[in-house]
Amino acid sequence: MITGRSQKAGKPMAPEARTTRSDVGDLRRGTNLLNCPWLNKGTAFTNQERRDLGLHGLLPPHVENIGEQVIRAYRAFERKSDDLERHIYLRALQDTNEVLFYRLLLDHIDEMMPIVYTPVVALACEQFSQIYRRPRGLFISYPLRDSIPALLRNRPNAAVDVIVVTDGERILGIGDQGAGGLSIPIGKLALYSLIGGIRPERTLPIILDVGTNNSERLSDPEYLGWRHERITGQEYFDFVDRFVQAVKQEFPGACLQWEDFATPHARPILQRYRNELLTFNDDIQGTAAVTLGAVFAAVQVTGETLKDQQIVIFGAGSAGIGVADGLRAAMQRDGLSEEDSRSRFWIVDREGLLHSARQHLTPEQRVYAQLECRVAGWPRTFNGHVGLADVIGQCEATILIGLSTVGGAFTEPIVREMARKVQRPIIFPLSNPTANSEAIADDLIRWTDGRALVATGSPFVPVRYEGRTIPIAQCNNVLIFPAVGLGVVAAGASRVTDAMMLAAARALGDNSPALRDRSAALLPPLTDIRRVAAEIAIAVGLQAQRDGVAAEQTDEERRRRVMATQWSPVYPD
Ligand code: NAI
Repeated sequence: MITGRSQKAGKPMAPEARTTRSDVGDLRRGTNLLNCPWLNKGTAFTNQERRDLGLHGLLPPHVENIGEQVIRAYRAFERKSDDLERHIYLRALQDTNEVLFYRLLLDHIDEMMPIVYTPVVALACEQFSQIYRRPRGLFISYPLRDSIPALLRNRPNAAVDVIVVTDGERILGIGDQGAGGLSIPIGKLALYSLIGGIRPERTLPIILDVGTNNSERLSDPEYLGWRHERITGQEYFDFVDRFVQAVKQEFPGACLQWEDFATPHARPILQRYRNELLTFNDDIQGTAAVTLGAVFAAVQVTGETLKDQQIVIFGAGSAGIGVADGLRAAMQRDGLSEEDSRSRFWIVDREGLLHSARQHLTPEQRVYAQLECRVAGWPRTFNGHVGLADVIGQCEATILIGLSTVGGAFTEPIVREMARKVQRPIIFPLSNPTANSEAIADDLIRWTDGRALVATGSPFVPVRYEGRTIPIAQCNNVLIFPAVGLGVVAAGASRVTDAMMLAAARALGDNSPALRDRSAALLPPLTDIRRVAAEIAIAVGLQAQRDGVAAEQTDEERRRRVMATQWSPVYPD
């Protein structure tokens, strides 16, 4: 098995120097070939191929082309009775014939992305043990902590460009799913391939199984994960460290993406490792970048600048603080001082506005604590908190972002009050799933007389208002992470810097359909997402070079490499 070559810390790595897939030997013939999902063409093997590769007799006689296969696969998909069954069907197809799986997804991207990933993947996590069929990815469980390098070497694919890892503790909106969390890296990597064009056989989903505190899972006789309560504290961080060191050794050039870790773990892990290897946390940095992209687009539509905005964020968890950090960095790049940029944020959590007299703020939250004297005379709720309505009443918020999980929190009086003071209020209820959305799109448009610029976390159908049809952008990380993956792989980058994420956000904003057509959505539709991903990847690569974490390339070379790296689901000859 060929593994990655060594790469000195911090030095960029030429794309050619990445690991290459080992010779697959007898995988290229007969039953082995049909069982290899990234080489299998199923009924599309021609008669000549069937003769040459020992496939005659193993396949039904009729030879199909991929178009016919897609039609047949789609009909089978349609015959499934519910979304979980559709998810299971697509996963089985993925494990059988990856080119066909991705072709089918591309042809029906609007319909199938929610089945492969959010929201249906949440069901797949919950029922992981019940629907488990075949292994995919790696289970790295705590009892095997002394053999992590050996577990990594047991992987099915030799070369790896992108790893997505979770510990299953904070899965989407449904909390601790233990080993069932593996469905998230599997689904996410499918999107890296579908959109970013990361070759499927060069991706690796991993679950760090450190137990679960989900009592339903622990008492379920069918649960397939390690039946133990979660490992915590130093033992947990030591385990993660063993994993990271093994990854560095085994895949020195791969991008390691952290996914759905609980807040108390997500940030320390990112901070500890972000300067050690090519790594990022999508919940923190991806969410920030996609939101920033939508904000950049919205602010351009209003004709204003980012540094003039007053930003209210409802929810001060990983996502809320991540978004604030991204926006603040962008404001500072636009020339605002550290102090001025901080003062433009009004962040509200369960105990109200973050302000300097509040106890128990994390260091990340304290950055945004408004001076208590600034809010001393403000009205408060019955328990002494400065609530969201109080903040909107007192400051001239131009942007209101919800990352709180509190469905309906943007009430009519709050939205009307904001819209009273601002011509084009920018309102993003981003919490998922739909039931947790801080407002529904239709209400926001009506309460603001059609003036609001809206992006949501969950999908909403276009809103009909006074004869207009207003499309609603979905602020989905999928607009960013596959593109960042493509950008770093194509550039051979060795780190993911903040400036690279900001460059991704700006490129996304620059590709907003609303800039060309004022009645279009703020963010690109899924049908245009691969093209936009390539543009974002080019911007990421350029920034990587500027930051000294990727080799020099001409603009033309960079574009050529991105296009060449972005794999498409086409059968090889
Ligand atoms: P978290 O649990 O880390 O943070 C939630 C925050 O909301 C906390 O600060 C909490 O104090 C606050 N909160 C909860 N109840 C509240 C209440 N009644 N009043 C005021 N504040 C309250 O969660 P995380 O990871 O930050 O995610 C939050 C939401 O954002 C989730 O619904 C998630 O689905 C969504 N999200 C959306 C993304 C997107 O792209 N649209 C990406 C990432 C997260």
